[in-house]
Amino acid sequence: MHTLFTPTRDLRSRVFPPSPPPRWFTWSTRAREALYLLSDEIPSLPKPTLEYFGPAEYGYSIGCEVRDSISAQLRQHIDSIAMAFHRIRTETGLLLFDNLMDQCIDGNTIRSLFALVRSTLVAKTGDSMVAIYAPLGAVGGTAQGDFPLHADLYPPAYLLNVFDHVPSDGSGASLLLPMEALLRMVDTLPSIPIKVNQRLRELVARPSEVDHYEEFYDLLHGEHPWTAALEGAMADQALRVALSRGQGYLVHDRHWLHGRERPRGRVRKDRLHRLIFDTERTLKARRIEARHAR
Ligand SMILES: [Fe+2]
Repeated sequence: MHTLFTPTRDLRSRVFPPSPPPRWFTWSTRAREALYLLSDEIPSLPKPTLEYFGPAEYGYSIGCEVRDSISAQLRQHIDSIAMAFHRIRTETGLLLFDNLMDQCIDGNTIRSLFALVRSTLVAKTGDSMVAIYAPLGAVGGTAQGDFPLHADLYPPAYLLNVFDHVPSDGSGASLLLPMEALLRMVDTLPSIPIKVNQRLRELVARPSEVDHYEEFYDLLHGEHPWTAALEGAMADQALRVALSRGQGYLVHDRHWLHGRERPRGRVRKDRLHRLIFDTERTLKARRIEARHAR
């Protein structure tokens, strides 16, 4: 199996004040070689297509069925990379990335990789929601302006965002906040009712096959007596990182909130590539939870 990522130069001093800061990674040598091979073979790949398998935003994904149209060598690499994604473990639930794109690894390569990884994981697990590569803009996602801190609360647990076309002036920076920090705030703000506190905790405690994004977002940012105080506390503690092309982050969506500041100009559909996926552990947890919910 591939070692998917390897530690890279330390960029933390210009990004994160907290200690210990998250670590920066880039593709391992083997994964990068595989991506170069993929990049070479893209002209002969079938075009990734949008597949619908459910009614909500987590019910569609870009996929690519290519078992017969890629070289045996690339097929081995893709299988290995897909399983490496499926076996990722992070202690903090947050990894930062640099140099994921270069002269050969462009937006097309990342798009094809994510489509292939998604298709491979679905084939291996038999679960259509084990990985989702929902393009921005097909349903929402390219709203203009800022996007306050939130959790997506998709069925799959991990969110990998790789930034592509972002403003060069550092506007539109990513915001990150540990869920633990949010829950501490919720405990200490007197304006938040106990029932709301409990509901927020319930929503992030366990995986779910049902989308609770809207409800969670409303409790944080809707018209409530506690919203201004909570948003102020979140802004005080949010980590801010302006990520450029080829940089990105991986978060466990129930352990870290994410958002963005207002970028200059329009938010482009190819602003970022995002792969949402379950690891073996999180898929198992989701399946156990689904059985209990029946
Ligand atoms: Fe999001």
